[in-house]
Formats: sequence, structure tokens, C-alpha cells
Amino acid sequence: MRRSIVHEGAGKLTYEIREIVKIARKVSSLGQEVVWENIGDPVQKGEIVSSWIRDKVSERAQDSLSFGYTDSQGHLETRSFLSEIVNKRGTTKITMDDIIFFNGLGDAISKVYNYLKREARILGPSPAYSTHSSAEAAHSGYEHLTYSLDPKNNWFPDLEEMENKIKYNDSIAGILIINPDNPTGAVYPKWILESIVNLAEKYDLFIICDETYANVTFPNTEWTFLSDVIKNVPAISMRSLSKELPWPGARCGWAEVYNRHIDTEFSTYIDSIINAKRLEVCSTTLPQIVLPEILGDERYTTHLKVRANKFSNRADHAWKYFSKINGITSIKPSGGLYMTVIFNELSNQGVLQIKNQSVKSYIEEAVIGVPDDKRFVYYLLGATGICVVPLSGFYSGLKGFRFTLLEDDDDKRDWIYKTLAQSVQDYLNEI
Ligand SMILES: Cc1ncc(COP(=O)(O)O)c(C=O)c1O
Repeated sequence: MRRSIVHEGAGKLTYEIREIVKIARKVSSLGQEVVWENIGDPVQKGEIVSSWIRDKVSERAQDSLSFGYTDSQGHLETRSFLSEIVNKRGTTKITMDDIIFFNGLGDAISKVYNYLKREARILGPSPAYSTHSSAEAAHSGYEHLTYSLDPKNNWFPDLEEMENKIKYNDSIAGILIINPDNPTGAVYPKWILESIVNLAEKYDLFIICDETYANVTFPNTEWTFLSDVIKNVPAISMRSLSKELPWPGARCGWAEVYNRHIDTEFSTYIDSIINAKRLEVCSTTLPQIVLPEILGDERYTTHLKVRANKFSNRADHAWKYFSKINGITSIKPSGGLYMTVIFNELSNQGVLQIKNQSVKSYIEEAVIGVPDDKRFVYYLLGATGICVVPLSGFYSGLKGFRFTLLEDDDDKRDWIYKTLAQSVQDYLNEI
């Protein structure tokens, strides 16, 4: 090429949750059955979507209008319905113009970082859901800037570190919060959210809060929406149908923009995101049209409660196995669909016994030069077929892995958690 055509951030686009699939497919082709614990898709893991929800979608699909384009920013009635929900909470007022629909939050995340001025940085959590950290790094062309989530303190953010980073780096324009968090399963108490809002106010920043799992918060966990504490700080909350309906294939997520008109710079930035959406015409229509009928149905509250209970019980179940092991830290999640285990120490020497000789040879080659936690993950895959995601894939220096709470078959789920815990123990015995 006579000119370099590769974007400065191209190398930063990594998504370990799906990259591990290449290794797992190879292992599968060599004869080891794979158990997919890497992706947060409840449907693929056996969840049957409630029949009343499927019926509503079928009824809507009979209407030809659901096959058409809709408004670029999102279906009008649906935006009005969602803004009413925020307004009923009474703490922040928005209008339907403060809601923007996307083709899933993957699309929202990409636009939110892409249309941010290159020099303006967003400080995000570590570990981090890698779509955010990769998109932010790619937008800036530099390493993602992070604040630590502390496993010794329930995976809560280190607020002192956060403030110091903000204070001494004036390129930071915003703070990203993921609540409930992926991959840690932490749900932040109100005082933490208030402290972050206060920091944003003090340093004139905006907030992005990914609330994908807002409706998958476990019983007895205090839940606070960002909109309840946001005061006058400009902010974007991200919501999605993917995990709570669940309907990840709908590719339907939306942003709620708070306090847009308090800051003209922020307002112009939001306009650029809306204009970018216009260039694409609109996001998928059918899920947007049916959304109010589902979320507004009296059965929906029970639906959410039943699911939150289910995942909470599974977290208890998994945690029982891991809590007995020395040498690791495992915090019981308070929300979301995942659990993360970290090794207190790990070397690049560990192995697990792999019976299938072709798989063994392949894994022995594959682990050369990979981070220590990835080495464990590859051996686990070869020895048991269980495919989890290494924590180093979540923009973290901590060594560990994330698995899901999604397996719907009770016996299989028990086998997965038991085998995972046993493999961790065997690995630790080896190093
Ligand atoms: C924290 C978080 N944000 C966003 C997404 C993307 O969701 P969507 O299916 O709406 O693109 C995910 C998916 O796993 C997620 O965990």
C-alpha cells in the first residue's frame, strides 16, 4: 500500500470471550467434547424463553410494520414508554429524545467511543468487559486507562486510585461503571455510585454506566440505578434486552442520556452519536416494537424475580465448591451471569493430565508464551473440555478465569462446577 491503511487502534481490538473459541474448536476436532462456558448467552445454554414472551413476539411479527424501518433514534412509543419508567422513579427526568436505540449494546459501545474526540479518554474498570476496554483503547490508539476493582474488597472500585488517576491525567473526560459488573458479579452499593458521581462533578467529567444486568440483581442485594444518584452530572446509562428477556439475538439495546443540556459539549457529542445512527437508518425494529408489551406486562416482574433467584442459587452452588480451596480468591457474585475465580499465585509450570494424546500435543504447543492464566484455561480445555475465559482477557493483571451461571441442566451444571474446582485444586497441587 502506498499509504498505511491500518488504524492506530487496530491491534487493540481483542475479545477473548470469542477468541478462545478458535482453540476450543481445534480441541473439539481432535476428539475432546467441549462444554462452552465462555459466552453469556442464556439461550445457547438451554434457557427456554417464557412462552408468553415468545407469544408476544409472534403476535407482533404478524404486523407488517414490524418488518419496516423505524425512527433512527428508536421507535417513538417505545422511547416514550422507557422515559416514563425513568421518570416514575422520580429522581431524574428525561424525555423520549434522551433515549437512543442501538443494534445491541455492542453497537452502542462502538459508537460511544468512536465519536468521542481522540484525546478524550474514559477511565474504566479492571478487570473489564472487553468490548468497552478494547473500544476505548482502539479509539485513543493507546492502552486503556483503568481503575482497579479490588477482589479483597468484594470487587469494589478503589476510589482513591480512581481520584488520583483523574486528578493527574487531564485527558480523562469520563468514567465507565459496569453495574452489575461483568466479569466480577459485583453490584455496587449506593454510596459507591454517589462517590463516583461526586468525583465526576468535582472534575467536570461525564459518566457511562453499563447497566446490562440491572434486572439480574440477586435477592437481598441493594440495587441503585445510576439515574437515582446522578444529580446534575451528564451521563449515559446503557440497557439491553439481551440478558434479561433473554434475547441476545434481537440485537436490541438502548442508551438513556441524563442531564444532556447541562453541558453544550456533552450535548453536541450526543448529537454526533444520534447522527451516526441516522447514517445507519435505524436499529432493528421488531424487538423495539414489542418491548413495551413485554416489559409492561404484569408477568414481567415475576419473570425477573424467578430468574434472579435462579442465578443466585447457582452462584451459591458454585461458590460452595470454590470456597473450600486454598490459594484462590472467589467472591460470590451479587448479580449478573458470571463468576470469577483468581489464583493468589500462579506460575507458568502448571499442567493438568490430558488423556487424549492428540489434544495433549496440541495444548502443549498452544501454551507456549501465553499468560499464566491462559495456560490454565488451555489445560482445562484439553483435560476436561470446559471452555472458560482467562481473566487476562478482561484487561486485568490478575490471574484467573470467568465462567457462567448459565448451564440449565442441573446435573451438567453440578459436573461443571465440581470439575472446575477439582481442576483448580489439581493445578495448584502441580505448581
Ligand atoms: C457488560 C456488558 N455490556 C454489554 C454487553 C453487550 O450486550 P448486547 O448483547 O446488548 O450487545 C454485554 C454482553 O455480554 C455485557 O456483558
